[in-house]
Amino acid sequence: MRLALLGCGTVGQEVVRLLHAQAADLTARIGAPLEIAGIAVRRLGRDRGDLPVDPALFTTDALGLIKRDDVDVVIEVVGGIEPARGWLVEALRAGKSVVTANKALLAEDGVALHEAAAEGGGDLYYEASVAGAIPLLRPLRESLHGDRINRVTGIVNGTTNFILSAMDATGAGFAEALEEATELGYAEADPTADVEGFDAAAKAAILASLAFHTRVGAADVHREGITEVTAADVASAQAMGCTIKLLCIAARGVDPAGRETVSVRVHPAMIPRSHPLASVGDAFNAVFVEADAAGQLMFYGRGAGGAPTASAVLGDVVAVARNRLAGVRAASESAYADLAVRPMGEALTRYHVSLDVADRPGVLAAVAGVFARHDVSIATVRQGSAGGSSGAAGRAGDAELVIVTHVAPDAALAATVGELRGLDIVRSVTSVLRVEGGV
Ligand code: NDP
Ligand code: HSE
Repeated sequence: MRLALLGCGTVGQEVVRLLHAQAADLTARIGAPLEIAGIAVRRLGRDRGDLPVDPALFTTDALGLIKRDDVDVVIEVVGGIEPARGWLVEALRAGKSVVTANKALLAEDGVALHEAAAEGGGDLYYEASVAGAIPLLRPLRESLHGDRINRVTGIVNGTTNFILSAMDATGAGFAEALEEATELGYAEADPTADVEGFDAAAKAAILASLAFHTRVGAADVHREGITEVTAADVASAQAMGCTIKLLCIAARGVDPAGRETVSVRVHPAMIPRSHPLASVGDAFNAVFVEADAAGQLMFYGRGAGGAPTASAVLGDVVAVARNRLAGVRAASESAYADLAVRPMGEALTRYHVSLDVADRPGVLAAVAGVFARHDVSIATVRQGSAGGSSGAAGRAGDAELVIVTHVAPDAALAATVGELRGLDIVRSVTSVLRVEGGV
């Protein structure tokens, strides 16, 4: 079974090491040896340490390598949309099987890849694209196929989880925690894809598509990152017995016309410390799945890093190699449900709002009136001295109001906060956070 490896960076190098270290076992498991036919990279002269591989295998001609007749399986660990899309479509149309870790491409144009796989008759596997080493996509696309999944809630980005965990543990602000993540090698030099939620949104699209048998792309996902999360937000969450996580949430719903829908969003949210996802610290990932018959399931582990990601890649390589030897291909992705994607404004969530207000008669009633006008029901109200949980010095004559709502459409909650910001009696809105997981 001959492999073309596209990319030999953080993940690719570990794929090479694992192929070498596990060679005998992999041969026994597959029924044929795996052999690297070539490795495509951008810079031939780059130092790749003491990789156990013949240097003559390296090439800068990825397309030429893919087109070779003796290549059966293409492993893509380069990343990005182009040229990866062109390479993989070419490989799949030619009947090769593809294993990829490229979540950005799958979320952007998974349809083109699946169509090319169907045309060529090879397999398209991508376990490593979401949550690194955690076996998650195979359970969604195989083990849970007899059940009905209603909701998937996950922490799927290690960098942002490291940053938020550090903010929670030390009281640091976002910039300080990001600096620490960069120094320790968790955050990349350009952390935009992670901290702005693009990486998590791509993973959310892949998860939602598999969980609900429908097509969800990156553009369908409502995305907010963590750059606006402040130390005051973290303190507010702690005062409520909560912590803040960047969550990806994919949920079934029903629109006003009674049609089944799906909503997919990525944003920071408060969750109670008793929730299973609250204890997921450092750069770990975890995904919480709720299904009709299976009930609640949690998948936990390392979501990033060369070796953990290579583990998932190699698992896929074994699966596609076995299929090729048996002359079969895995069942295609099913998108039969064809669910409409609901806009964020219609997503049902809860808000936690902290306000510094004038402390005089009628203020609480006026604030409550704003919530009522937008048909948002208040669950709890707490009043303290201004600057309370935010730690800021309060002004004499001011008070802090902390309001947690019941579930309401996001648009109504956002409009409520917008109106509150315009009130004279509201000195400042110190923190607005969504609340998930039943506080
Ligand atoms: P790296 O940047 O470390 O490696 C990318 C590799 O691709 C390098 O070997 C680079 O060559 C090669 N490359 C880039 N452009 C070209 C090109 N035009 N032609 C040929 N080769 C090219 O990336 P990672 O290993 O971190 O990530 C790879 C993929 O895995 C991405 O899709 C990523 O999202 C995904 N992934 C990564 C995880 C991680 O923890 N790193 C976790 C889960 C998924 P050269 O070495 O010469 O520069
Ligand atoms: N940058 C990603 C993370 C890598 O921090 O989780 C894994 O996809």
